[in-house]
Amino acid sequence: MNVNELPIGVFDSGLGGLTAVRELKEILPHENIVYFGDTGRLPYGTRSAETIIKYACDDMNFLLTNSVKAVLIACGTVSSTALGVLKSSFDVPIFGVVEPASAEAVSLTKKKKIAVLATPSTISAKAFDKAIAGIDGSVSVCGIGCPMFVPLVENGYIGEDCFVTKEIVNEYLSKLENFAPDVIILGCTHYPLIKSIISKTACEKFGKTEIVDSGKVSAHALKKYLDQNGMAKTDGEGFTRYYVSDEPHNFGKTASLFLGEQVDNVSKIDMEEYLYKK
Ligand code: DGL
Repeated sequence: MNVNELPIGVFDSGLGGLTAVRELKEILPHENIVYFGDTGRLPYGTRSAETIIKYACDDMNFLLTNSVKAVLIACGTVSSTALGVLKSSFDVPIFGVVEPASAEAVSLTKKKKIAVLATPSTISAKAFDKAIAGIDGSVSVCGIGCPMFVPLVENGYIGEDCFVTKEIVNEYLSKLENFAPDVIILGCTHYPLIKSIISKTACEKFGKTEIVDSGKVSAHALKKYLDQNGMAKTDGEGFTRYYVSDEPHNFGKTASLFLGEQVDNVSKIDMEEYLYKK
């Protein structure tokens, strides 16, 4: 089969990677996508680097059984912790979210103050700080770990008027009051699902604030690579298959809400059985 016809693989610990899928569907409508959300082992963002790397290798192995032509790690935690290991271990083009989101943020900041909201593991890895320093050393970066956001999103607390989510957003953004950024990177791909609350609260606290959706911008980086290398699929309507490692119902429900289309083709894969079979 021609490489162009093969699907793109996208993975995350759960729903967050859908922020990249939504954009991929928009900008690469002919592509088939295989999505894996490791919901049975979520969250990743509070785990050790060793565990994150192990889980990420399992996720890659699963996607490769679907003959994917490229993989988008639509997870800030894995991108920050395991990108190098994955690139040297797997023979397929692999893309993370850190570089594209950092480049976008640097291009947007006027005050040269960028905040990164991400999981505790991502903040400890300092991957965004390093990427931003590599682009423009005069930009200051302030990272805030936001461990409560992923459970809120996974449990469907994503409505604009959700009181609990608004309170927690307010709590985390209060930590940035002295720093007062003009750009905030949502360095965990789950966070754009509550982007409107984050954006509104940030503008109230700091004035005009640009929000960078790391899942969305990484989709553009992948498109650029496929186009430049003649690997994009150029006809037919793209189809997305969804796999999760725990019960599929809740995933399908929130995915439908977020993507604005019915997501009912979610299959559960048994990670233990899959790993045992290997
Ligand atoms: N969506 C993920 C990220 O971008 C992982 C969140 C988690 O599992 O803690 O970091």
